[in-house]
Amino acid sequence: MSTVIYYFSATGNSLVIANDLAKELGDTDVVAMVEALDKPVDTVYDNVGIVFPVYISGLPLIVARFLKNLNISNNTYYFAVTNFGGMPGRALALTRKILKERGASLAAGFGILMPGNYTPLYGAAAKDKQKAIFDKEKVRIKEIAGKVREGATGILEEKLFSIGAILYALLYKKGSSEIPAADAGFWITDKCTSCGLCEKVCPVANIAMENGRPKWLHHCEQCMACLQWCPVEAIQYKQSTAGKEHYHHPDIKISDIIKQKQNDKLR
Ligand SMILES: Cc1cc2nc3c(=O)[nH]c(=O)nc-3n(C[C@H](O)[C@H](O)[C@H](O)COP(=O)(O)O)c2cc1C
Ligand code: SF4
Ligand code: SF4
Repeated sequence: MSTVIYYFSATGNSLVIANDLAKELGDTDVVAMVEALDKPVDTVYDNVGIVFPVYISGLPLIVARFLKNLNISNNTYYFAVTNFGGMPGRALALTRKILKERGASLAAGFGILMPGNYTPLYGAAAKDKQKAIFDKEKVRIKEIAGKVREGATGILEEKLFSIGAILYALLYKKGSSEIPAADAGFWITDKCTSCGLCEKVCPVANIAMENGRPKWLHHCEQCMACLQWCPVEAIQYKQSTAGKEHYHHPDIKISDIIKQKQNDKLR
């Protein structure tokens, strides 16, 4: 059984999940969604998996765009694994809806708790809490791989009646429409060394260096990669990030995130 896992990741949680799942399943390619934006994606695999974070209790805009370009093939098993710092919301239901509109059925949707990365609301979890979450992730991966191997159907690991679902209903539509221009809230402190890494790590080329300083271009995903990976923590968001501990998955390097834009398989 051949599998492809398409992933989107800003701070590495989704990338770790994609890599762990690939290892567990075997015969699996791990491919970044980023390079596939706005062009058709053909797949020749038995299983197609989508791995991504929850944003505003729903889907990151970039993931919705990717799904709309995925060419659907009959007899393919489609599954999704979302991950979140608190609650799954309705990200899997939205994935199922978009796939249905494309003529495909989401056989199974799984959710994994990971450390939250939305620094405007909270700092990174304590290291011992992170470790406990990472240990559970490894267990969940084995369970999920088992379900994928047996071709399980009818799984959607989120609830229609839940706080996450209420937040989705209240916040997602308006919140996600405001995301592209929300980068107006980013600013830099005088710690900036003009290294240009924020421009490189931005998965959607939303940062251009101008006179040695990053300029945000208003087609943002709010993924926080620029803020989280700045080596001197010079990037702030409004007045809500100062002094808060940054986060990225300890097994992922900035070069792994930058590589999302250099994925040969989707060129
Ligand atoms: C813009 C944004 C919105 C988010 N919204 C939610 C949310 O609604 N619920 C939640 O539990 N986590 C939320 N998160 C946290 C991420 O889903 C979580 O940390 C995820 O594991 C990050 O994955 P990554 O490291 O692959 O980027 C949000 C993160 C960002 C950047
Ligand atoms: S990554 Fe940080 S230090 Fe480097 S250019 Fe961007 S803001 Fe400046
Ligand atoms: S500008 Fe920053 S927050 Fe916006 S998409 Fe790029 S890396 Fe993510």
